[in-house]
Amino acid sequence: MKRRDFIWAAFCLPTFVKFASADLPKLTVFKSANCGCCTAWIEHIEKAGFFVEAKNITQRRLSDLKQRTGISLELEACHTGFINSYFIEGHVPAEDIKSLLFQRPDALGLTVPGMPRGSPGMEMGDKKDPFDTLLVKRDGSSEVFRSHSDIAA
Ligand code: CU
Ligand code: CU
Repeated sequence: MKRRDFIWAAFCLPTFVKFASADLPKLTVFKSANCGCCTAWIEHIEKAGFFVEAKNITQRRLSDLKQRTGISLELEACHTGFINSYFIEGHVPAEDIKSLLFQRPDALGLTVPGMPRGSPGMEMGDKKDPFDTLLVKRDGSSEVFRSHSDIAA
């Protein structure tokens, strides 16, 4: 086995074994109809093996939904998704969602606040902003769930 293959097998395989596509829970996404980056993110999520149900709602209802879900303004992005009991806000990488489902922390959900360039669905050539996926706790506080700073160009 080549070294690269070994690393891939060691780190990636358990995730795939644990979550064959058919076992992944459905992700429901609320978004505004004219959001292109939301659609691009959904494609990224589907490619990772999730079944996505997308629902277009007005910007106003989307804001209400975020508020009721406990997503404060500084944690906000564009679309708001739900999977099992968790919310998924913004351009969260599919692998982070799989880790969340595997680890099942006592928390409200994951968010990538704002719309960092280079996050899934926000690809803009080689322009890449470092960003963190945050885990939002039940008390509203948040901590870094996974850092994606290493992708910064
Ligand atoms: Cu977006
Ligand atoms: Cu979006």
